[in-house]
Amino acid sequence: MVRIRVLTLLLPILSALLSDASPLADGQLSDFLKRQDPQVKPLLHLASREAAGVKPRHLRPVWEKAKRARRDSITPPDVGQEANFTGSTPEPVRGANGAPFLSPSNTGIDEENPDNVAPPTTDAGVVPNLKWSMAQSHTRLLKGGWVRETVITDLPPSKDIAGAEIRLAPNAYRELHWHRIAEWGYILGGTGRIAAVDSTGKSYISDIKGPINGTDGDVYYFPPGVPHSIQALDDGLEILLIFTDGNFDALGTTFMLSDWLAHTPLDIVAQNFGVNTSVFNNIPKTDPYILESTAPPPQLGEASQQAIPDPQGEVPNPYVFHLSTQKKTTGPGGWVKIQDSVTNFPVSTELASAFVYVEPNGMRELHWHTADEWLYIISGKGRATAFAGSATSRTFDFEAGDTGVFPVSYGHYVKNLSPTEPLIFLELFKAPQFADFSATQWLALTPRQVVIDLLNISSEVIDTFATTKQIVVS
Ligand SMILES: *[C@@H]1O[C@H](CO)[C@@H](O)[C@H](O)[C@H]1NC(C)=O
Ligand SMILES: *[C@@H]1O[C@H](CO)[C@@H](O)[C@H](O)[C@H]1NC(C)=O
Ligand SMILES: *[C@@H]1O[C@H](CO)[C@@H](O)[C@H](O)[C@H]1NC(C)=O
Ligand SMILES: *[C@@H]1O[C@H](CO)[C@@H](O)[C@H](O)[C@H]1NC(C)=O
Repeated sequence: MVRIRVLTLLLPILSALLSDASPLADGQLSDFLKRQDPQVKPLLHLASREAAGVKPRHLRPVWEKAKRARRDSITPPDVGQEANFTGSTPEPVRGANGAPFLSPSNTGIDEENPDNVAPPTTDAGVVPNLKWSMAQSHTRLLKGGWVRETVITDLPPSKDIAGAEIRLAPNAYRELHWHRIAEWGYILGGTGRIAAVDSTGKSYISDIKGPINGTDGDVYYFPPGVPHSIQALDDGLEILLIFTDGNFDALGTTFMLSDWLAHTPLDIVAQNFGVNTSVFNNIPKTDPYILESTAPPPQLGEASQQAIPDPQGEVPNPYVFHLSTQKKTTGPGGWVKIQDSVTNFPVSTELASAFVYVEPNGMRELHWHTADEWLYIISGKGRATAFAGSATSRTFDFEAGDTGVFPVSYGHYVKNLSPTEPLIFLELFKAPQFADFSATQWLALTPRQVVIDLLNISSEVIDTFATTKQIVVS
């Protein structure tokens, strides 16, 4: 309230400053403010603040600040490049458009999202927010780890996919559970062990590890309904979890074994397992979700020591996929490894994924898909524009731990903004097979005159377009 009142009072002063820019002494200013409202403390002592090295924010003549911000934010010609606010506070100014903030903004968020503050001139129309940072998610702290999610209430346009990060302390478990939908995981760090049993009683146990010694992390997949557990080994474990429904927290999506038993009449539980009810006296009353272990498991590589002999045998298709053993598909500016049920990961019938490595300044080329793409940034800094059709597009900035969604058919690219660091990210699709369309390949394989007449570019230029997919350009 006080701030609004102060601003209202300051407006005449600001316009005075603007009209002749003759400086008001600090004394004059406080006298003026006190006269208007004795409760208002003089906010600003221009001379003393400057002497103390505090940058004046509100009283610097607006035109001067605008000139400065223009100079800082963009170097002409403006072709939609990212505004460069390095060394100055981001301001909503681009070229002749916009005007600096008069009241404080959340500068940290502005600095992470220059394309929100000073969007490229190529952005147009209204595209809903397509980005969510895991850092904005509520984190559930538990004995033995934590979990945080990006679900439909965080990122409403993502209807097909939700994600979560889960951390397990050394030897801690994600308890026995199953889901109505498919679960896919990428190991972000550490080592662990998964165990599962399918509907025919065939079982599976395998170690999982994150990017260790420069290798790529493992991926796993549990089909809908398949009950499973995860245990961290002595390094601890962090996983990106992907679920094939954006509304992951909806009732009827996740089922914990301990929760089920605690909510079933005890005599029924006892009869089911053929034991005395007293056997189940000490089961948890509420499901722990994550829990600590009372005995360390056999080390990495020793999973078979824990395997129970299964008369039904092992599941026909492994639930773990080792990215580290997969060949890269290389483009001029990086490489990609694609996993899906049709190509190389038969069990993963409801989720296709691509692990993308973009070299410094490189770019995942202009393309689109036949399913929503869910994006997770593992490391680096990127910029992407979502083209929604009908002269509508919006540009977003991404960094590690950010998630995003490009709805089905939206044209997009992902550019690595760093001249020195790689950009590493995952593309996830609720689909049995990865599929994308490349703008460059399309133009290269279309009759020349059609392209010449539409884009007014020469045949010689079009000859340089690759007829094979580049995936990542330099
Ligand atoms: C951004 O501006 C800073 C300060 O003027 C400059 O050092 C830097 O090179 C600029 N970065 C880019 C990408 O233009
Ligand atoms: C990683 O490298 C270190 C040092 O060479 C080695 O001791 C360790 O066993 C390696 N870890 C794995 C999981 O390969
Ligand atoms: C169940 O166990 C309790 C405690 O050991 C015992 O007193 C009781 O007789 C048992 N009941 C049955 C039906 O075996
Ligand atoms: C194509 O571009 C050239 C060079 O700018 C211009 O002179 C010409 O009018 C353009 N043609 C069409 C059909 O727009």
